[in-house]
Amino acid sequence: MKARIAKIRNFATDIKSLSLTPASGVEFPAASAGAPIIREIPGAERVWKNAYSLVSPDDRQKYEIIVRRAPHSRGGSAWLHDHAALGQVIEIGMPVNLFPMEASAKNHLLLSAGIGLTPFLSYLPVLRAAGAAFQLHHCCRISETDAFGALLPADENIILHTSRTSLDLATLLSSQKLHTHLYVCGPEAFMNVVVASARKLGWPQAKIHQESFASATGGAPFKVKLARRGIQLQVKDDESLLEALENVGLSPPSLCRGGACGVCELPVLEGLPEHRDHFLSGAKREANSAIMACVSRAKTPELVLDF
Ligand code: FES
Repeated sequence: MKARIAKIRNFATDIKSLSLTPASGVEFPAASAGAPIIREIPGAERVWKNAYSLVSPDDRQKYEIIVRRAPHSRGGSAWLHDHAALGQVIEIGMPVNLFPMEASAKNHLLLSAGIGLTPFLSYLPVLRAAGAAFQLHHCCRISETDAFGALLPADENIILHTSRTSLDLATLLSSQKLHTHLYVCGPEAFMNVVVASARKLGWPQAKIHQESFASATGGAPFKVKLARRGIQLQVKDDESLLEALENVGLSPPSLCRGGACGVCELPVLEGLPEHRDHFLSGAKREANSAIMACVSRAKTPELVLDF
């Protein structure tokens, strides 16, 4: 879909919000709370694709996203911060929700850090309108308290933490009532700590939901052989396997591009993947029978994929 950048707001240091309106005159499709869109960002040598949560997915006249400049941005968030301009028309993908709220939950525990708050901004009106039991704990830098605080309604169930140590995870996670579902979104390290704590306390995997928009990080280059196509290609140190496939004109499916949704899973026939995703089960990870192309790399000089 074509979308016009209608408003850019400097939200906090290195964080901007962008309002996008339909460039074709036709309304955007409505989406459910938690849905991201993929933005295509033209770079000098390639098109970057990043996923961003919609802040108000039911507004068909306007999609709003919040973007932090990634510390080592390879192009996507840096382009948005440095080159996005009012009136510019950009390409966006259809919103698809891979981080929905669980309808059977009796209580929703939402934990976020930084711009990991964005999917929860769309959850809150739904939870409050339904009178659902929930608690949101959001961690942010002291300098960002006002910016994030302004996005949140006054509610005793919404608690801002200006240091991650002020969030007593063990107490919080062990004091939840039965049928509580846990939702986590934020930087990799934050999510890993929360999920590891929940697992240690015996939370079943089915009640832990996480959203990751971390983009791929680089690593040693490796070769990939595509068994079905008889093609061999090189994954460079600064690109992901998914990008390498796209750069030779292939279109493997992808969505979150952060190792969370499972859409880009490809079967591995030979070689050892270096798993960097949050999706694969322990058994599949140990069997090394699949790789998430958006973030994972190779431990061996070559991988052979059934693709
Ligand atoms: S695109 Fe979602 S895990 Fe790779």
